[in-house]
Amino acid sequence: MQQARIQFHDLHPSADDLRSDVLTGLSSSPRAIPPKYFYDQKGSQLFDEITNTEEYYPTRTEMQILESYAQEIAECIGTGSLLVEPGGGSCAKVRLLLEGLRPCAYVPMDISKDHLWIAAEQTAAEFPWLEVHAACTDFTQTMALPDNLPSGTRVAFFPGSSIGNFHPQDAVAFLTTVAAMVGEGGYLLIGVDVKKDSKILQRAYNDAAGVTAKFNLNLLARINRELAANFELSKWQHHAFYNAEVGRIEMHLRSEIEQVIQIDDHEFYFDQNETIHTENSYKYEIGEFQEIAGRAGFNPEQVWMDSNNLFSVHLFSTDGK
Ligand code: AVI
Repeated sequence: MQQARIQFHDLHPSADDLRSDVLTGLSSSPRAIPPKYFYDQKGSQLFDEITNTEEYYPTRTEMQILESYAQEIAECIGTGSLLVEPGGGSCAKVRLLLEGLRPCAYVPMDISKDHLWIAAEQTAAEFPWLEVHAACTDFTQTMALPDNLPSGTRVAFFPGSSIGNFHPQDAVAFLTTVAAMVGEGGYLLIGVDVKKDSKILQRAYNDAAGVTAKFNLNLLARINRELAANFELSKWQHHAFYNAEVGRIEMHLRSEIEQVIQIDDHEFYFDQNETIHTENSYKYEIGEFQEIAGRAGFNPEQVWMDSNNLFSVHLFSTDGK
């Protein structure tokens, strides 16, 4: 049997600055903390739990779509491509595509060395023929790839509707860097959650077991631990709702009482019911998302959906196809 081939490339991402982002976010109006800080070890575990709740349909629906259409996707893209996955900290989704696509190499990119290494090892163990180049980098800052990668049509794979966590303008800016990375004749395969009955959306972010609430509140536990803040978790409530006007789920943490939060020598006064905005999750009609991707330089090639039209997987190409 051929040996798994993994190369690890440390592209030295600059460390996140939780302290300055939290101090800035709590001083601004409305108050907000960037959602990237959800994902400490506990937060990542809770996110995995969310994806297994009955109410959170995106993950399992996207996986069904990828599984059902893997062959068709491979026929559109062809074999021998260089498959790049920004945020590829788990091999669960890409594994559904690898046999069909038979890429010349797979390049997962993740800021967390541990996540990346585990994902790269799992993928390489399952697909011993595959060349894996794991790139430790912050893809939200740079799409620069390691040097000396094998050449092939470049394909970016960005599943999970993670694009929904960007403001639409930031989504265009991010996708523009993806288009530049794949270059002329490249592809983007991207999972996008779609607009639907608001009851289905609201349930997905308010599961009955309270896992999403724990995920949201864990942000405060992290800030307490890492910044010696004094958030009392029992005095905060998870609040998630669909804002139909702008087409997004909003997650907030709502103060149940009037209170003062202390971080270093900063004091933040909260009124009862005042919130900290912790996440947006935009939902897009097919045409709306094609318009966003079009502004970034992508042409629509194909869209796959599940039979209930809950979730979409788009294939886009850049010019030269
Ligand atoms: C990671 N991201 C696409 C998830 C979403 O649905 O926006 C994060 C999440 N937040 C609450 N539940 C899941």
